[in-house]
This record gives sequence, structure tokens and C-alpha cells, in this order.
Amino acid sequence: MYAYFNDEIIDLRKGVIQLQNRCYTFGDGLYEVLRIIDGVPVFFEEHLNRLKKSADYFEIKIESSREIKRKVDNLIRINDFSSGELYIQLSRGTDLFREHGIKSLESIVSILTIPLRNINEDNWISGAKVVSFPDMRHGFCNHKTVNLFANVQAKSYAYSNDAYEAIMYRSDSNGKYVTEGGSSNYFFVKSNDVYTPEVDNILPGITREKTISLLQEMGENVVQKRFYFDEIKDADEIFLVSTVSKIMPVKIVDDFSFKIGEKTLKLIKRFEEMIKEYKKSRK
Ligand code: PDD
Repeated sequence: MYAYFNDEIIDLRKGVIQLQNRCYTFGDGLYEVLRIIDGVPVFFEEHLNRLKKSADYFEIKIESSREIKRKVDNLIRINDFSSGELYIQLSRGTDLFREHGIKSLESIVSILTIPLRNINEDNWISGAKVVSFPDMRHGFCNHKTVNLFANVQAKSYAYSNDAYEAIMYRSDSNGKYVTEGGSSNYFFVKSNDVYTPEVDNILPGITREKTISLLQEMGENVVQKRFYFDEIKDADEIFLVSTVSKIMPVKIVDDFSFKIGEKTLKLIKRFEEMIKEYKKSRK
């Protein structure tokens, strides 16, 4: 398997870690995860747009989307990779002095094709179990930074409790409210409206955006606002969304159980159709 490291194509069997890379020493970088399906990097433009916006915000240099797309297509070809994950990492650069303060450096783009992570198929059929966990992350969660220590803790807590995902919370004067999962966004159907946490220090997920527009096309009323933990037990349907989880029904949140409802099932179908249409338009 090969990968891109700036303009070099690297044989991953030889292993490459560049020890002075600021992603390695500080977690000073950004990333994107895309699905590759039938050789097509799905929603490439949306992912690159998010990466570019964050790169501009944090003043990390980034090459053009066209150049990154050229590398991605080339990598898919040389790895003969038709289905799995695509990881794009943008590091601020190489810093021989490991100084915390930001300097203008030549950034590094690494691109890897990764086998699709192992997910129990039954999660999509019977629904996933999720467990609550405090959101202990920093204040830049609306960017996809490689600083994932707290996400790793949340997800590991879920795995050790036999769950697929964590549902993280913060608190305000009204109580605990949902932020997001370790690597996904949440939706709740309640009394015919669909709620999802507003983008308030959470990742504006690409799947979340697609889900909102599909729900609106389906004639649903989507409300983006804080959703409190004591409202969860009255939810009619719950689902989580991400590039890798797609639309996944949730059957258990801590001690509460939920049915997989009509809206979730319809959405799963519409999302698959949307991906098919995207692939067709890019072939
Ligand atoms: N994670 N929230 C967090 C914290 C995430 O890490 C992710 C994605 C999402 C969903 O975003 P999107 O729909 O753009 O994939 C929400 C990816 C899959 C990962 O880190 O592997």
C-alpha cells in the first residue's frame, strides 16, 4: 500500500514517521475522513471545503483542492483501492525547534487509503447501543483538528461498555445537553419534529448537513438547538450520522431503549440513493 507525503509517494511497508512534524509533536494539524465507494471519494468537494475553511482560520497553508484531488485519484489508482476510507491530514509543518508558538512553515499533506473500519452490520439493522460520557474537549471542536485525545477516551469508554459510540454532554443552567459522539453527530425525532444540536463547539459534519437537507426534502421540520439529556427518554427515534456510520439507528442510550422508526428507515434509504447519485455524477 502506498501513501502521499507531500509530493512523494511512499511505500507504507517501509513506515514513515517524520518526528519533527507538528502533528506528531503538538497535534497541530487538521484532517478529513472520506468514504471511497467504487473508487469514488464521496462528497470530496464538501470535505475539502471544510478543510480549507479551517486551514484558513488557523493560518495553515494548503494546496489547491484540484491538486489534492489529483493526488487522491492517483492514490486510488496505484493502490487499486475501490472501497474503504480516505484519510487526508494537513500538518502545519516540520518544526526543528518544537516551539509552541505558531510560525509560518511549509505545511505537509499526507493522504492514505485505509481499509473500512470494522462495524457490526447489525447496528444498522437492530440499532446501536450508545453510552453517555462528559465532553471534555477544547474550544475548537467545530474544526476537525487531529487533537482527538478526549474523543478517543469517549469512544474507548463506549467500547469497554459494549457500546458502539459515546453520546457526549456538556452542562448549562438547564442541565446536561448533548454535544456529539466521539466521531458522529446525533439526531432525535420527538413529537414529529427532528432535533439536532446546533453547531456550538461541535463538528459541522458533512453527513449532518446532508441529513438536514434530506429531512427537509422529506418535509420534516428540523430544529437545531440544544437537546437536553432529560428530553432523550421521550424521543420517538434516535439516530447518529457520520461518514463511516452513515445513518445509524440508536436502540439504547444508557438505560433507555428506543424503536427504529419510519423516519430513520426512510432516511437510510434516501441517503443510500444520494450516494448512488453522487457516484454516478462523478464517474
Ligand atoms: N469522524 N463529530 C465528530 C467528533 C467526528 O469526528 C465526526 C467524523 C463527525 C461526523 O462528521 P462527518 O459526517 O463529516 O464524517 C462528527 C470521522 C468519521 C473520523 O474521525 O473518523
